[in-house]
Amino acid sequence: MVVLGNSFVIFTFVLCSIWVFTSADSSIYEVLKSHGLPMGLLPKGVRNFTLDNSGNFVVHLDQPCNSKFEKKENELHYERNVSGSLSFGQIDLISGISAKDLFLWFQVKKIYVSSSSSGVIYFDVGVVSKQFSLSSFDNPKECTAVQVTDLEDAKQDSKVLFFFS
Ligand SMILES: *[C@@H]1O[C@H](CO)[C@@H](O)[C@H](O)[C@H]1NC(C)=O
Ligand SMILES: *[C@@H]1O[C@H](CO)[C@@H](O)[C@H](O)[C@H]1NC(C)=O
Repeated sequence: MVVLGNSFVIFTFVLCSIWVFTSADSSIYEVLKSHGLPMGLLPKGVRNFTLDNSGNFVVHLDQPCNSKFEKKENELHYERNVSGSLSFGQIDLISGISAKDLFLWFQVKKIYVSSSSSGVIYFDVGVVSKQFSLSSFDNPKECTAVQVTDLEDAKQDSKVLFFFS
């Protein structure tokens, strides 16, 4: 009975556990890699992150920031807290990442690779999936601090530009 009780406690603990990592521990980049995803999906400047054993994670960045990838006009915006659900080859239920396409910012909902040999990665922004080269996300990128208000301004401009273009 005592033994059963103990295992139940341990079992419950394992089921409910959320691991908290700081930059000194195993990195979120290693976690991405072990899920068949490129390390550069998250930028430099991760302060800490939590990961539970169903793959739900929250990443805390030093600051909200923007990074460019692949081409000069391709940009990603990361909010200070980025969360999602990791499984092999994909991150679903993403919150805190937007991608700029032409002049518009879209919330990224899901990121996935169909197979690593294809060399492509897909960003699902709800209406469409955009395809990029997997190798542009090989390494975590420098990310420039951005105030949310700057982004709001950019969003306003985008709408205007889009409307008149
Ligand atoms: C992780 O970083 C965030 C943002 O700086 C902070 O609010 C939070 O307390 C940190 N969590 C841990 C467990 O260190
Ligand atoms: C980010 O997460 C931290 C720690 O959980 C929280 O204190 C903070 O309010 C969050 N910030 C934003 C902008 O959601």
